[in-house]
Amino acid sequence: MTSKLLLTALAASLLLPVVQAQDAAAQDTAALAYRNAVETPPPGWTGPVFRLSHDYPTQAPAACGVKDCPWLATNPSMFNQAPGSSVPVWDAQWSAYMKKIFDYIKEGQDPMLSNQKGWNVEVGGNTRWYHVPWMSYDPTRGREFVHGLTNERTATISDFHKPLEHHFGLNSLQASVNPNAKFETWAFGVYNDYGAYSIGKSWDKNGLPQVASYDGVRTPAGLPFPTGTVVAKLLFTTATEKDAPYLKGSPAWQADRHVMNGQNPTCERKVQIVHLVQMDIAVVDPNSPGRWIFGTYIWDGNRPGKTAWDHLVPVGLQWGADPWTFPAVPRAESIPVRQSVLNPRRPNAQAGCQGRLAGPVDNKQASCVSCHGGAFASTSSALSVPTGTPPIFGFPGLCTQYSLENAQYFNNVQFPQGYTGGQYPDVMNLDTSLQLQVSFFQYAQYKHTGKPAACTQ
Ligand code: HEC
Repeated sequence: MTSKLLLTALAASLLLPVVQAQDAAAQDTAALAYRNAVETPPPGWTGPVFRLSHDYPTQAPAACGVKDCPWLATNPSMFNQAPGSSVPVWDAQWSAYMKKIFDYIKEGQDPMLSNQKGWNVEVGGNTRWYHVPWMSYDPTRGREFVHGLTNERTATISDFHKPLEHHFGLNSLQASVNPNAKFETWAFGVYNDYGAYSIGKSWDKNGLPQVASYDGVRTPAGLPFPTGTVVAKLLFTTATEKDAPYLKGSPAWQADRHVMNGQNPTCERKVQIVHLVQMDIAVVDPNSPGRWIFGTYIWDGNRPGKTAWDHLVPVGLQWGADPWTFPAVPRAESIPVRQSVLNPRRPNAQAGCQGRLAGPVDNKQASCVSCHGGAFASTSSALSVPTGTPPIFGFPGLCTQYSLENAQYFNNVQFPQGYTGGQYPDVMNLDTSLQLQVSFFQYAQYKHTGKPAACTQ
C-alpha cells in the first residue's frame, strides 16, 4: 500500500464513525419529525390508526387552472381591498364560492365521515392530502394515534351559544348545562398537493428545516404557498348535543385525548369520544389582498340532509383583518367590517371581534386572518431557540380597546413581510401557516433541549 492510500484508508476509518453518528442523528431527527403520533396504539387495539402522509411532491406544481381550481374563476371584486368599497352582504355568490372549495374537499371522503373510515388522504388513486411534520413531538398537545388529532384551544359553554342566550342566562335554554363547563377541542389539518410541495421544500427528508431567501428576506425554502393550495381543518369537541342542540347527530370520533379531572384536563390520555363541530378552510387565491381566503363551517344537526357533509353549514369567509375597524383604530374612526362576510343563517349567530369571522370553537375576540397573520417562526441561533413570536393567542385588551397590540393584531400582513411594529426582528413569515409555526417551534425545542417540554397541566 502506498503511503497515500494508507493515509486515505486511515482517514476513512477515522471518519466513518463520525459519518455513521451523523446518519444516526439524522435518522433520529427524521423519526421524531415524521412519527405518526405521540404514543403508539396499545397492544390489542383494533380501531383506526393514524398514518402521517409525508411523501410530499417534489415537482413544482403548474399554475392551477379553472378546471382543477374552479373557485379561482370567481369575480375578483367580491374581495374588497380598502375603505370606500361596499360592505359585503351574504348572498348566492358567497355560497357558490364556498361550495366549489367544499366539493373539492369532500371528494373521495366518506359521506358519513365515520370514525372507522376517518380521513382519506388518497383521492382517485393519488395522494391528495398531506400533514405537517413535527406535530407529534409535544406530549401535551401533539398528535394522538387514532386520527392524528392535536389538542387546540379549550372552549367554554358560551362559545356554543348566541350572545343573546348568555344575556338571559343559559339556564333558560338548557337546565342541564353547567355554566362553568369546559370542552377540549381536538383537530386535524390537511394540505393538498399544491401546499404539500411547499411543506416538503421547507422540511427535508431528515426532518431538518430548509431556509432560503425570498426577495432578500429569510423564509422557509418552500414558501410562499402556490396558487391552488387548499387547506382543510376539521375540529372536534368534547361537547355534545346536551350542551349545544345543533350538535345533534354529529360524527363521533375516537381520540386518545386527555382524561379530565373535573373541568381540567390532566396529562393522562385515554381513547374517548369527540364530536365534529367545525370545519375550517383556507385557500391561496390571488383575488384576496393578502393572497389567502379563510372560511368556516359549523355542524348543524337540525338541518335536513342525508350525508354528514349536508350538515356542515357555511358560517362565512374572511380575506383581511379590517385594519380600518375598531380596535385597530379608535372607535370614532372605525368603519364597518368589509373583509369578512357572515352567513346570517348560521345556527349559533356567533362572530369574531367586531363582526370579523371566527369559528364556533375559536376565541370570539379574535378572527381567522388576524390570528393566522401572526404565523412566524423564531430564527434565533439557526432556528434553535423557541422564543419571541407575536402573541397570536391574545393579550390584555384583545378586541376591547384601541391599542398598539390591537392595531398590530388586526393589520394585514403579506408574505414575506415582518410583523407590524418591528418588535419581532428575529422571525420569519410563514405565509399564515400556524401548523408550520408549530413545526418550527417543536424543532427549535428539540434542538435547544433535546427533548419536548414535559406535560404539566
Ligand atoms: C387565536 C388563533 C386562531 C384563530 C382565531 C384561528 N385559528 Fe386557525 N389555527 C390556529 C392554530 C394555532 C393552528 C395550528 C394548530 C393545528 O392546526 O393543530 C391553526 C390551523 C389552521 C388551519 C390549518 C393550516 C394552518 O394554517 O396551520 C386552517 C386551515 C385554519 N386554522 C383555519 C382557520 C379559520 C378558517 C379560522 C377562522 C374561522 C381560524 N383558523 C381561526 C389558530 C387560530
